[in-house]
Amino acid sequence: MKKITKETLAKYNGLNEETENKIYLAVNGLVFDVTSGSQFYGPGAPYGVFAGKDATYGLANNKVEINKDEAEELSESQKKTAKEWQTLFEGKYELVGELIN
Ligand code: HEM
Repeated sequence: MKKITKETLAKYNGLNEETENKIYLAVNGLVFDVTSGSQFYGPGAPYGVFAGKDATYGLANNKVEINKDEAEELSESQKKTAKEWQTLFEGKYELVGELIN
């Protein structure tokens, strides 16, 4: 699978002509092209904070925010929640790569 760094991911925030204003987000180390969900993730949209980011922490915690403490471990139930989001994304969006540091 294509490896995508966090730095590259950040360019896919819907506001970058270099990436054709595409929107990617990552969950559980997988990067999805969520451009077709711009009503959710586009600039100013309710979940726009996830655009170009690793959204695992927010999705797992049911919070519209990005993890600040990268070392923080998820509980089993949080992992389950994140996995459910992953399943939704797999069914709805194109998987474009794997998130690396
Ligand atoms: C008052 C609380 C909330 C309400 C009423 C709400 C409502 C909704 C609705 C109506 C949709 C659209 C569903 C669809 O059309 O397919 C949606 C999508 C979504 N919600 Fe929420 N939501 C709330 C809180 C949250 C929170 C706290 C999160 C944080 C994880 C979240 C994450 C998402 C995401 C990621 C999507 C888009 C999923 C996709 O790409 O299809 N929501 N929400």
